[in-house]
Amino acid sequence: MMIPTDCHKQLTEMHQEHVLEHWDALSENQKEKLSSQIQSLDFETIKALQKALKQQKKEPPAYFPLKKAQKTGSAENAERGAKILSEGRAGCLILAGGMGTRLNVDGPKGIFPVTLSKKSLFQFFSERIKAASKLYGQSLPVAIMTSPLNDRETRDFFEKHNNFGLEKDQIDFFVQQDLPLLDKSGNLFLDAEWHIAEGPNGNGECLKEFYRSGIWRKWKERGIEYVNLALIDNPLADPFDAELIGAHDRLGCDILVKTVKRVDPDEKVGVLVQVGDKIHVLEYSEINQKDKENIEDFPYANLSLFSVTMSFIEKAKDLKLPLHKAYKAAPFLSRKGETIKPASPNAWKFETFIFDTFLHGRVEVIAYPREECFAPLKNKTGESSPETVLASLQDYDRKIYEKISGLKAPERPFELDPAFYYPPAKLLEKWKKRLLPNERYISPS
Ligand code: UD1
Repeated sequence: MMIPTDCHKQLTEMHQEHVLEHWDALSENQKEKLSSQIQSLDFETIKALQKALKQQKKEPPAYFPLKKAQKTGSAENAERGAKILSEGRAGCLILAGGMGTRLNVDGPKGIFPVTLSKKSLFQFFSERIKAASKLYGQSLPVAIMTSPLNDRETRDFFEKHNNFGLEKDQIDFFVQQDLPLLDKSGNLFLDAEWHIAEGPNGNGECLKEFYRSGIWRKWKERGIEYVNLALIDNPLADPFDAELIGAHDRLGCDILVKTVKRVDPDEKVGVLVQVGDKIHVLEYSEINQKDKENIEDFPYANLSLFSVTMSFIEKAKDLKLPLHKAYKAAPFLSRKGETIKPASPNAWKFETFIFDTFLHGRVEVIAYPREECFAPLKNKTGESSPETVLASLQDYDRKIYEKISGLKAPERPFELDPAFYYPPAKLLEKWKKRLLPNERYISPS
């Protein structure tokens, strides 16, 4: 087979024909793969990436400490949100397209076991959604964003486990896109003889892709108004937070951002700031050291966890978000024809960020206690590792048990069934003053 002439011409014009250097040695199957990858390349985008590479690092707009954040603890908001949920007017969007590079996992990060009983992130989120659905008497919908690298595996995982009890029409998947990586000179490169290196394009396009996938329309038709967005790597992210949704409804803004106080200047979290009358985030990789260390003036962390209206998503589908570039280690094909995983950075990766949509809408911020909503899984060991995540989940369960039973929780490790997070009246009645059974996994019955 041959590469279509127009693609060949484009590659030559852009001096990228080296990606075909192994063409003659490829099998028909491999030729087909490379050819279809080249045909799917958007050459205008590649030019934009090369241009972005040459540009000086853009200074962020003039920014200031955040003026105000709402506080939690309003029973009125919680009640208002519970009503919205019981009318089936909210859905949940989980971003699970990333590569889990820092955690060093092969495959989707969502299959990583996090709880005491080794439930994976996907199972844990699904069971919370199921429990919330039961409480509110609605089959609350969830959409999961994957990437070309992990889409098949993610869907297979859910299928193998019967969607962890979720109904078939309650769960949808959609795929984010890839962008080519560029080498240090700004050229495309191969990571296999028949494959040009590429990677997920960041989480910024998720609202656009969610809309394009048709799920937005499906949800709109079933009366969804609010979408709770969460990252798969934060198991304490509540997929259906009644108080957040109630507060959002009361405030009437486009996006209500959930935040926690920063505790460590070196924590890898984006920082919420004010730009004019807009809310903005400076990513930890881009904020200047002085402001990063100034926790007092810049106290709020971005968790990429928020409630967004369906009407804002419709608007966001047309936004052009800035490209952020980072120099990262990426597998490449060596001269000898072997795929090498380098230890140090060798390639430019381009991403858009979800919080760059904030500048285009009316955004409010609400501050939560960290132990209620943030336990990110990022690294293999140390900070934000399986160990710290498990400790946070256990603390959370202890607090939930104490709140429901009115008794002190024992020190020993235990795991609550997610039904305790969305407790129906019967459960509350049954567990009032009830001693914790001497088991590791606590079922509601
Ligand atoms: C992200 C936030 C950061 C925040 C931190 C909190 C962004 C751009 N940055 O940083 O401000 O303080 O989490 O934990 O949101 N993902 C995709 N597609 C992608 C890339 C990522 O779906 O192309 C998903 C991943 O599956 C992952 C999550 O987004 O669950 C976070 O991605 P990661 O790149 O690890 O973000 P951080 O650098 O930790």
